[in-house]
Amino acid sequence: MKQRKLGREGLSVSAQGLGCMGMSDFYGQRDETESIATIHCALDRGVNFLDTSDMYGPFTNEELIGKAIKGRRNRVVVATKFGIMRSNPTSGAWAPITGISGRPEYVRSACDSSLKRLGTDHIDLYYQHRVDNEVPIEETVGAMSDLVSAGKVRYIGLSEASVQTIRRAHKVHPITALQSEYSLWTRDPEDETLLALRELGIGFVAYSPLGRGFLTGELKSPDDFAPEDYRRNSPRFQGENFTENLKLVDRIKSIAMQKGITPGQLALAWVLRQGEDIVPIPGTKRREYLEENIAAEEITICDSEILEITEALPRGAASGSRYPESMMVLINR
Ligand SMILES: NC(=O)c1ccc[n+]([C@@H]2O[C@H](COP(=O)([O-])OP(=O)(O)OC[C@H]3O[C@@H](n4cnc5c(N)ncnc54)[C@H](OP(=O)(O)O)[C@@H]3O)[C@@H](O)[C@H]2O)c1
Repeated sequence: MKQRKLGREGLSVSAQGLGCMGMSDFYGQRDETESIATIHCALDRGVNFLDTSDMYGPFTNEELIGKAIKGRRNRVVVATKFGIMRSNPTSGAWAPITGISGRPEYVRSACDSSLKRLGTDHIDLYYQHRVDNEVPIEETVGAMSDLVSAGKVRYIGLSEASVQTIRRAHKVHPITALQSEYSLWTRDPEDETLLALRELGIGFVAYSPLGRGFLTGELKSPDDFAPEDYRRNSPRFQGENFTENLKLVDRIKSIAMQKGITPGQLALAWVLRQGEDIVPIPGTKRREYLEENIAAEEITICDSEILEITEALPRGAASGSRYPESMMVLINR
């Protein structure tokens, strides 16, 4: 697996990471044995960049990663996040978000708790998951910077932050990476974010590069989701939007077929093609999908194919917003 470098400080990670969220939360059924086997397979295949957060589960995803990397810690770049609080999960429903915190004392205690759950003495890349409008970013990043000085964190990042916030944060401590949604159907970072990141020398980690599974062409109906599957709450996966978005995926499918690859591989190869400073973190809990996603790295897309793909799925073509309203207000702050 090729390596890419994030940020001016040059955090070296595999060209694609492994999103671990779905192993414990958000996307239906869990299978701990297969999830751990998937993480081990990723590490053996050179995918060393694991992505989690304290809010996945909540908490259980970090515990799962801790279990999986025991005895393998030195082969892994562990990325986790703090800042989103959720209610305790009740059976049969996705646990809602109850608050955002970037208070320095919260940052310190969240980090200590994550270290414990992950079974490690340091986090390689620690992100603020969502910006807290009540706390100046300088204070939050100041606390994150102290964690670097204390040796608990190696590099710091932000997620879904606005360009203005990124610039202010970067003055306090070098930001190594921004993690935001980026895929064929979510092109928002192209507006101004990627330009600013390149000017500042900050890397970009693309989450949900497979459109939360939609771009693989495997999702057929919103009725197929388990009751607690988060996508039931997401506008793009509901009713008429779902039907309209299926038409877009059909176009991607036919281009992929001509190339003899899967639509998911086309979606991933497209993200990988957008720059050496971009690292997609497709999420899966199955070895079979992991292998398919790794193979996307070898796929080349020429300029004429890029044109064909973007004509098939133009910017802004997706029906429905990428988050429900209550969560849209938490991005770009
Ligand atoms: N910073 C943030 O706010 C934020 C938000 C969302 C996600 N993330 C991170 O980004 C990671 C990736 O995003 P994501 O998991 O939301 O979305 P994604 O990678 O776009 O899609 C994941 C979905 O695609 C399915 N899938 C994966 N590979 C497949 C393949 N080859 N064929 C068919 N289906 C396939 C998975 O199925 P299975 O689950 O059945 O394997 C899962 O349902 C997460 O795991 C998380 O760590 C961060």
